[in-house]
Amino acid sequence: MSVVIESAWPRTAAWIGGQLRIGGIGVRELAAEFGTPAYILDEEEFRARCARWRAALPDGEVHYGGKAFLCPAVVRWLREEGLCLDVCTGGELAVAVTGGMDPARVVFHGNNKSAAELRRAVAWGVGRVVVDSFAEIERLSAIACEAGVRQSVMVRVTPGVEAHTHEFIATGGDDSKFGFSLGAGSAAEAVRRVLASPWLELTGLHSHIGSQITDLAGFTLAARRMAGFLLEAEREHGVSIPTLDLGGGLGIVHRPGDPVPPHPAEVVAALREVVPARLRLAVEPGRSIAGPTAVALYEVGTVKEIPGLTTYVSVDGGMSDNPRPAMYGAAYTAALASRASQAPPREVTVVGKHCESGDVLVRDLPLPADVRPGDLLAIPASGAYQRSMASNYNHVTRPPVVAVRDGAARVIVRRETEEDLLRLYV
Ligand code: LLP
Repeated sequence: MSVVIESAWPRTAAWIGGQLRIGGIGVRELAAEFGTPAYILDEEEFRARCARWRAALPDGEVHYGGKAFLCPAVVRWLREEGLCLDVCTGGELAVAVTGGMDPARVVFHGNNKSAAELRRAVAWGVGRVVVDSFAEIERLSAIACEAGVRQSVMVRVTPGVEAHTHEFIATGGDDSKFGFSLGAGSAAEAVRRVLASPWLELTGLHSHIGSQITDLAGFTLAARRMAGFLLEAEREHGVSIPTLDLGGGLGIVHRPGDPVPPHPAEVVAALREVVPARLRLAVEPGRSIAGPTAVALYEVGTVKEIPGLTTYVSVDGGMSDNPRPAMYGAAYTAALASRASQAPPREVTVVGKHCESGDVLVRDLPLPADVRPGDLLAIPASGAYQRSMASNYNHVTRPPVVAVRDGAARVIVRRETEEDLLRLYV
């Protein structure tokens, strides 16, 4: 097990003369060349995190959860690092294929995949479709029959495990919109119906209990229940169901002092303890790979001091490039990244430029008291669910993603322009 201290900052982050450098390049230079706001992504960190999961599960499958952050460059890195990919829409599937991912290495999720999406998945040879409802079992069976293909599927099961996370990102409970409930018996019925279709081949069971989870208890409880259910189904039907996919969900550190999540090797060891060795394990980490790889880089535009209350430091992005604080109450940190300051710290609220008071990026943040317009602020742990969830609220254009490595920087997602936005209007 490699000893890496979990931090919110990517591994090549270094402060030299008060300036943050990532991948060997100073943020002042990056801001001058690529503008702000921008996500600066440490390619080495991304690859190392892929490799860590791969090494933790050498005899299983690691499907990167593409919803965390996906673009063709990332797909290429995944290929090179030996990972597979989990997609949950036709759009993500299109990016996967554009990036050169073999569709056979793709797992396709979603509680309401359209007939067109399913047709495309079957036609392109997607490795496994994760069936999520009775309607979908029928629909996919008909589509596979039409195409003359026997489609490999997994059944998505909700094992009734409450993950200790925000309710909007917990998915494993019996009342979830996803999948078939173990407790209520619909999972057993789903297995029966899949096995009854000559056009579907049941190759695995799947569960995903939630996201940003930092303790092992929920994962092992789900694994135990799922393994038990799988063995029961095998016995009842006299079949073999070779794969148990336990989804993603491992959390990351966003701020110093946050709970430190277990290492992927510890997660896998805990799962292996309760899952029979003959079953092939699959996992779908998203955040724990992408999250710590990027910092969001902003420029300060205004500083408003309200004596006795707070000081607002406004940056040139906000809830359109990071909706997580507003949506989930997610807590981040930020640092002055462009220069050294000897000024004493004072507590500020970092806000965006949107027309909404809830547009807060960081609360109660100690920053040097002389923070001023033109300074650069960096928010770490910005690699997952930020660019992928970014919006055009207030007709703000979405920031670019700039990959840095060994002193070189390249744009892997370009900045959106006003022309991009205006092109939609007829
Ligand atoms: N597999 C499935 C079936 C999933 O639904 C998800 C995430 C993952 C894998 C990857 O989970 P991860 O390892 O990234 O936790 N937008 C929310 C997170 C939603 C996660 C949805 N599903 C956020 O910003 O926190």
